[in-house]
Amino acid sequence: MTDNYGRTIDYLRLSVTDLCNYRCRYCMPEEGVCKQSHNAILRVEECEEIARAAVACGVKKIRLTGGEPLVRQGILEICRRLRAIDGLEELCLTTNGSLLRELAKPLRDAGVDRLNISVDTLRPDRFTQITRRGVLADVLAGIRAAEEAGFQNLKLDTVLIGGFNDDEIGDFLALTVEHPWEVRLIELMPMGPCAEWEEGCFLPGTVVLERYPALKAVDTQGVTRRYRLPGAQGTVGLISPVSHNFCGDCRRIRVTADGKLKGCLHAREEISLRGLHGAALEEAIRRGILQKPRQHRLKEDGSETHRTMNQIGG
Ligand code: 5AD
Ligand code: SF4
Repeated sequence: MTDNYGRTIDYLRLSVTDLCNYRCRYCMPEEGVCKQSHNAILRVEECEEIARAAVACGVKKIRLTGGEPLVRQGILEICRRLRAIDGLEELCLTTNGSLLRELAKPLRDAGVDRLNISVDTLRPDRFTQITRRGVLADVLAGIRAAEEAGFQNLKLDTVLIGGFNDDEIGDFLALTVEHPWEVRLIELMPMGPCAEWEEGCFLPGTVVLERYPALKAVDTQGVTRRYRLPGAQGTVGLISPVSHNFCGDCRRIRVTADGKLKGCLHAREEISLRGLHGAALEEAIRRGILQKPRQHRLKEDGSETHRTMNQIGG
Protein backbone atom coordinates (compact mmCIF):
# COMPACT_ATOMS: atom_id res chain seq x y z
CA MET A 1 0.00 0.00 0.00
CA THR A 2 0.95 3.66 -0.28
CA ASP A 3 1.75 5.74 2.78
CA ASN A 4 0.89 9.37 3.50
CA TYR A 5 3.87 10.62 1.51
CA GLY A 6 3.27 8.62 -1.65
CA ARG A 7 5.80 5.89 -0.86
CA THR A 8 4.92 2.31 -1.80
CA ILE A 9 5.44 0.14 1.26
CA ASP A 10 6.20 -3.40 0.15
CA TYR A 11 9.12 -4.53 2.32
CA LEU A 12 8.92 -5.91 5.84
CA ARG A 13 11.93 -6.46 8.07
CA LEU A 14 10.95 -8.98 10.70
CA SER A 15 13.26 -9.47 13.67
CA VAL A 16 13.05 -13.02 14.98
CA THR A 17 15.28 -12.61 18.05
CA ASP A 18 17.13 -9.86 19.91
CA LEU A 19 19.88 -12.27 20.91
CA CYS A 20 23.21 -12.46 19.16
CA ASN A 21 26.30 -14.60 19.53
CA TYR A 22 28.47 -11.54 18.82
CA ARG A 23 28.73 -8.28 20.74
CA CYS A 24 29.71 -5.77 18.09
CA ARG A 25 30.93 -2.73 19.95
CA TYR A 26 28.69 -0.24 18.13
CA CYS A 27 25.60 -2.37 18.57
CA MET A 28 25.54 -4.17 21.91
CA PRO A 29 27.05 -3.84 25.37
CA GLU A 30 29.59 -6.46 26.46
CA GLU A 31 27.16 -8.15 28.83
CA GLY A 32 24.64 -8.59 26.03
CA VAL A 33 21.00 -7.83 26.49
CA CYS A 34 18.85 -8.96 29.32
CA LYS A 35 17.40 -12.11 27.82
CA GLN A 36 13.73 -11.53 27.20
CA SER A 37 11.59 -14.21 28.65
CA HIS A 38 10.71 -16.85 26.12
CA ASN A 39 7.16 -15.51 26.03
CA ALA A 40 8.23 -12.03 24.99
CA ILE A 41 9.53 -13.20 21.62
CA LEU A 42 7.12 -13.89 18.77
CA ARG A 43 6.31 -17.56 18.43
CA VAL A 44 6.75 -19.25 15.05
CA GLU A 45 2.98 -19.14 14.48
CA GLU A 46 2.87 -15.43 15.27
CA CYS A 47 5.71 -14.70 12.84
CA GLU A 48 3.73 -16.47 10.15
CA GLU A 49 0.48 -14.72 11.01
CA ILE A 50 2.11 -11.27 10.95
CA ALA A 51 3.89 -12.07 7.69
CA ARG A 52 0.61 -13.19 6.08
CA ALA A 53 -1.17 -10.05 7.21
CA ALA A 54 1.69 -7.89 5.93
CA VAL A 55 1.52 -9.61 2.53
CA ALA A 56 -2.23 -8.96 2.50
CA CYS A 57 -1.34 -5.26 3.02
CA GLY A 58 0.94 -5.29 -0.02
CA VAL A 59 4.29 -6.52 1.30
CA LYS A 60 6.20 -8.44 -1.38
CA LYS A 61 9.58 -8.87 0.25
CA ILE A 62 10.40 -9.98 3.78
CA ARG A 63 13.81 -9.89 5.38
CA LEU A 64 14.45 -11.84 8.57
CA THR A 65 16.79 -10.02 10.93
CA GLY A 66 17.82 -10.09 14.59
CA GLY A 67 19.91 -9.85 16.71
CA GLU A 68 21.29 -12.79 14.84
CA PRO A 69 18.42 -14.67 13.19
CA LEU A 70 20.35 -17.93 12.98
CA VAL A 71 20.55 -18.29 16.78
CA ARG A 72 16.75 -18.35 16.87
CA GLN A 73 15.25 -21.77 17.65
CA GLY A 74 12.90 -22.71 14.84
CA ILE A 75 14.44 -20.36 12.26
CA LEU A 76 14.18 -22.98 9.50
CA GLU A 77 10.53 -23.58 10.31
CA ILE A 78 9.87 -19.83 10.17
CA CYS A 79 11.55 -19.69 6.73
CA ARG A 80 9.53 -22.62 5.41
CA ARG A 81 6.26 -21.15 6.61
CA LEU A 82 6.97 -17.68 5.24
CA ARG A 83 8.12 -19.02 1.89
CA ALA A 84 4.77 -20.79 1.49
CA ILE A 85 2.82 -17.50 1.66
CA ASP A 86 1.13 -16.71 -1.65
CA GLY A 87 2.11 -13.31 -2.93
CA LEU A 88 5.48 -13.17 -1.18
CA GLU A 89 8.04 -12.62 -3.90
CA GLU A 90 11.28 -12.65 -1.94
CA LEU A 91 12.43 -14.03 1.38
CA CYS A 92 15.80 -12.66 2.49
CA LEU A 93 17.88 -12.94 5.62
CA THR A 94 20.60 -10.80 7.17
CA THR A 95 23.20 -12.69 9.20
CA ASN A 96 26.61 -12.22 10.79
CA GLY A 97 27.61 -15.38 8.92
CA SER A 98 29.02 -17.18 11.94
CA LEU A 99 26.66 -20.15 11.67
CA LEU A 100 26.32 -20.30 7.92
CA ARG A 101 28.79 -23.11 7.47
CA GLU A 102 26.19 -25.42 8.98
CA LEU A 103 23.03 -23.54 8.04
CA ALA A 104 23.50 -22.22 4.48
CA LYS A 105 22.21 -25.40 2.83
CA PRO A 106 19.25 -25.89 5.21
CA LEU A 107 18.28 -22.23 4.71
CA ARG A 108 18.38 -22.65 0.97
CA ASP A 109 16.24 -25.79 1.27
CA ALA A 110 13.82 -23.88 3.51
CA GLY A 111 13.27 -21.41 0.67
CA VAL A 112 15.43 -18.40 1.52
CA ASP A 113 16.12 -16.52 -1.71
CA ARG A 114 18.93 -14.18 -0.75
CA LEU A 115 21.43 -13.54 2.03
CA ASN A 116 23.16 -10.45 3.35
CA ILE A 117 26.25 -11.21 5.39
CA SER A 118 27.77 -8.63 7.73
CA VAL A 119 31.55 -8.41 7.91
CA ASP A 120 33.17 -5.23 9.17
CA THR A 121 36.82 -6.10 8.64
CA LEU A 122 38.91 -8.63 6.73
CA ARG A 123 41.64 -8.76 9.41
CA PRO A 124 41.23 -11.62 11.90
CA ASP A 125 42.53 -9.65 14.90
CA ARG A 126 40.31 -6.66 14.22
CA PHE A 127 37.36 -8.91 13.64
CA THR A 128 37.64 -10.43 17.09
CA GLN A 129 38.17 -6.97 18.55
CA ILE A 130 35.05 -5.37 17.02
CA THR A 131 32.74 -8.38 17.54
CA ARG A 132 34.30 -9.05 20.97
CA ARG A 133 34.07 -12.81 20.34
CA GLY A 134 33.79 -13.59 16.65
CA VAL A 135 36.26 -15.52 14.48
CA LEU A 136 36.71 -14.19 10.95
CA ALA A 137 37.46 -17.64 9.52
CA ASP A 138 33.97 -18.81 10.53
CA VAL A 139 32.37 -16.04 8.50
CA LEU A 140 34.60 -16.60 5.48
CA ALA A 141 33.71 -20.30 5.60
CA GLY A 142 30.06 -19.27 5.92
CA ILE A 143 30.30 -17.13 2.78
CA ARG A 144 31.77 -20.08 0.88
CA ALA A 145 29.04 -22.36 2.20
CA ALA A 146 26.40 -19.88 1.04
CA GLU A 147 27.81 -19.91 -2.47
CA GLU A 148 28.03 -23.70 -2.48
CA ALA A 149 24.42 -23.88 -1.35
CA GLY A 150 23.44 -21.91 -4.44
CA PHE A 151 22.88 -18.42 -3.03
CA GLN A 152 23.52 -15.86 -5.74
CA ASN A 153 23.91 -12.10 -5.65
CA LEU A 154 25.36 -12.25 -2.15
CA LYS A 155 25.58 -8.94 -0.35
CA LEU A 156 28.33 -8.20 2.14
CA ASP A 157 27.56 -5.42 4.62
CA THR A 158 30.36 -3.42 6.21
CA VAL A 159 29.80 -0.61 8.67
CA LEU A 160 32.45 2.06 7.97
CA ILE A 161 34.12 3.21 11.16
CA GLY A 162 36.70 5.99 10.99
CA GLY A 163 40.00 4.93 12.57
CA PHE A 164 38.94 1.28 12.63
CA ASN A 165 38.38 -0.05 9.13
CA ASP A 166 38.63 2.90 6.75
CA ASP A 167 42.13 1.74 5.82
CA GLU A 168 40.48 -1.42 4.46
CA ILE A 169 38.12 0.25 1.98
CA GLY A 170 40.46 -0.75 -0.85
CA ASP A 171 40.44 -4.38 0.32
CA PHE A 172 36.66 -4.42 0.37
CA LEU A 173 36.45 -2.91 -3.09
CA ALA A 174 38.96 -5.49 -4.33
CA LEU A 175 36.56 -8.27 -3.32
CA THR A 176 34.14 -7.08 -6.01
CA VAL A 177 36.75 -7.54 -8.71
CA GLU A 178 37.02 -11.27 -8.04
CA HIS A 179 33.50 -12.05 -6.85
CA PRO A 180 30.02 -11.26 -8.18
CA TRP A 181 29.05 -9.77 -4.83
CA GLU A 182 27.63 -6.46 -3.82
CA VAL A 183 29.90 -5.09 -1.12
CA ARG A 184 28.03 -2.39 0.77
CA LEU A 185 29.70 0.24 2.89
CA ILE A 186 27.29 1.57 5.45
CA GLU A 187 27.59 4.78 7.44
CA LEU A 188 27.72 4.23 11.17
CA MET A 189 24.53 5.55 12.74
CA PRO A 190 24.87 7.23 16.14
CA MET A 191 22.56 5.03 18.18
CA GLY A 192 22.95 2.66 21.10
CA PRO A 193 26.52 2.23 22.38
CA CYS A 194 28.13 4.22 19.54
CA ALA A 195 25.95 7.29 20.03
CA GLU A 196 28.68 8.69 22.29
CA TRP A 197 31.65 7.79 20.08
CA GLU A 198 33.93 10.55 18.92
CA GLU A 199 33.12 12.38 15.73
CA GLY A 200 36.01 10.88 13.76
CA CYS A 201 34.32 7.46 13.81
CA PHE A 202 31.46 8.75 11.68
CA LEU A 203 32.60 8.93 8.07
CA PRO A 204 30.37 10.05 5.23
CA GLY A 205 30.03 7.49 2.43
CA THR A 206 31.48 10.07 0.03
CA VAL A 207 35.01 9.38 1.36
CA VAL A 208 34.82 6.11 -0.60
CA LEU A 209 34.23 7.99 -3.87
CA GLU A 210 36.91 10.57 -3.05
CA ARG A 211 39.52 7.92 -2.36
CA TYR A 212 38.55 5.66 -5.28
CA PRO A 213 37.63 7.87 -8.25
CA ALA A 214 37.73 4.81 -10.52
CA LEU A 215 34.31 3.84 -9.15
CA LYS A 216 31.70 4.45 -11.83
CA ALA A 217 28.05 5.03 -10.93
CA VAL A 218 25.74 2.18 -11.93
CA ASP A 219 22.52 3.22 -10.21
CA THR A 220 22.42 6.03 -7.71
CA GLN A 221 18.68 6.14 -7.11
CA GLY A 222 17.26 4.52 -4.02
CA VAL A 223 18.58 3.62 -0.59
CA THR A 224 21.75 1.91 -1.89
CA ARG A 225 23.78 3.87 -4.44
CA ARG A 226 25.66 1.41 -6.65
CA TYR A 227 29.08 1.75 -8.26
CA ARG A 228 31.47 -0.53 -10.10
CA LEU A 229 35.22 -0.73 -10.52
CA PRO A 230 36.31 -1.15 -14.14
CA GLY A 231 36.08 -4.82 -15.10
CA ALA A 232 34.73 -5.90 -11.73
CA GLN A 233 32.28 -8.77 -11.46
CA GLY A 234 30.48 -7.31 -8.48
CA THR A 235 29.35 -3.88 -7.37
CA VAL A 236 30.00 -1.50 -4.51
CA GLY A 237 26.99 -0.14 -2.65
CA LEU A 238 27.02 2.98 -0.53
CA ILE A 239 24.37 3.24 2.13
CA SER A 240 24.46 6.65 3.75
CA PRO A 241 21.63 6.99 6.25
CA VAL A 242 23.31 9.93 8.01
CA SER A 243 24.81 12.12 5.28
CA HIS A 244 22.27 11.35 2.56
CA ASN A 245 18.71 11.22 3.73
CA PHE A 246 17.05 8.52 1.63
CA CYS A 247 13.76 8.47 3.49
CA GLY A 248 11.89 9.50 0.34
CA ASP A 249 12.86 6.15 -1.20
CA CYS A 250 12.14 4.05 1.89
CA ARG A 251 9.72 1.17 1.25
CA ARG A 252 10.00 -0.60 4.57
CA ILE A 253 8.26 -1.27 7.81
CA ARG A 254 9.72 -3.23 10.71
CA VAL A 255 8.48 -5.65 13.31
CA THR A 256 10.60 -6.14 16.43
CA ALA A 257 11.20 -9.55 17.97
CA ASP A 258 8.60 -8.76 20.61
CA GLY A 259 5.96 -7.96 18.02
CA LYS A 260 5.98 -4.17 17.78
CA LEU A 261 5.45 -2.58 14.40
CA LYS A 262 7.70 0.38 13.63
CA GLY A 263 7.20 2.60 10.60
CA CYS A 264 10.74 3.90 10.96
CA LEU A 265 13.93 2.57 12.54
CA HIS A 266 14.49 5.83 14.38
CA ALA A 267 10.94 6.59 15.45
CA ARG A 268 9.63 6.13 18.95
CA GLU A 269 6.12 5.15 17.83
CA GLU A 270 5.36 1.44 18.02
CA ILE A 271 2.17 -0.53 17.55
CA SER A 272 1.87 -3.82 19.38
CA LEU A 273 0.70 -6.56 17.05
CA ARG A 274 0.47 -9.30 19.65
CA GLY A 275 -2.92 -10.77 20.31
CA LEU A 276 -4.29 -9.33 17.06
CA HIS A 277 -5.65 -11.60 14.36
CA GLY A 278 -7.32 -11.41 10.98
CA ALA A 279 -8.80 -8.04 10.02
CA ALA A 280 -7.65 -6.40 13.29
CA LEU A 281 -4.04 -7.39 12.61
CA GLU A 282 -4.19 -6.07 9.05
CA GLU A 283 -5.80 -2.86 10.27
CA ALA A 284 -2.96 -2.35 12.78
CA ILE A 285 -0.36 -2.84 10.05
CA ARG A 286 -2.13 -0.30 7.81
CA ARG A 287 -2.22 2.13 10.72
CA GLY A 288 1.52 1.62 11.22
CA ILE A 289 2.19 2.33 7.55
CA LEU A 290 0.18 5.55 7.77
CA GLN A 291 2.17 6.60 10.86
CA LYS A 292 5.44 6.25 9.00
CA PRO A 293 7.20 9.60 9.32
CA ARG A 294 8.29 11.55 6.26
CA GLN A 295 11.90 11.31 7.39
CA HIS A 296 14.17 10.83 10.37
CA ARG A 297 16.13 13.59 12.10
CA LEU A 298 19.28 11.56 12.73
CA LYS A 299 21.63 14.40 11.86
CA GLU A 300 19.74 17.05 13.82
CA ASP A 301 18.47 15.22 16.91
CA GLY A 302 19.91 11.72 16.78
CA SER A 303 17.76 8.63 16.87
CA GLU A 304 14.56 8.94 18.87
CA THR A 305 14.19 5.26 19.53
CA HIS A 306 15.17 3.93 22.95
CA ARG A 307 16.05 0.60 21.36
CA THR A 308 19.43 -0.65 20.19
CA MET A 309 19.90 -2.21 16.75
CA ASN A 310 19.81 -5.78 17.97
CA GLN A 311 16.32 -5.12 19.31
CA ILE A 312 14.99 -3.59 16.10
CA GLY A 313 16.79 -5.53 13.43
CA GLY A 314 19.59 -3.76 11.54
N1 5AD B 1 25.02 1.92 12.29
C1 5AD B 1 25.01 1.26 11.11
N2 5AD B 1 24.78 -0.05 10.99
C2 5AD B 1 24.55 -0.75 12.11
N3 5AD B 1 24.30 -2.06 12.31
C3 5AD B 1 24.12 -2.26 13.63
N4 5AD B 1 24.26 -1.10 14.31
C4 5AD B 1 24.54 -0.14 13.39
C5 5AD B 1 24.79 1.26 13.44
N5 5AD B 1 24.80 1.93 14.60
C6 5AD B 1 24.31 -3.05 11.22
C7 5AD B 1 25.15 -4.28 11.45
C8 5AD B 1 24.69 -5.18 10.37
C9 5AD B 1 23.24 -4.85 10.29
C10 5AD B 1 22.40 -5.93 10.87
O1 5AD B 1 23.05 -3.61 11.00
O2 5AD B 1 26.50 -4.10 11.32
O3 5AD B 1 25.34 -4.98 9.16
FE1 SF4 C 1 13.07 4.55 6.31
FE2 SF4 C 1 12.86 5.54 8.72
FE3 SF4 C 1 15.21 5.03 7.67
FE4 SF4 C 1 13.74 7.02 6.79
S1 SF4 C 1 14.63 6.80 8.77
S2 SF4 C 1 14.88 5.57 5.60
S3 SF4 C 1 11.71 6.20 6.97
S4 SF4 C 1 13.67 3.57 8.14
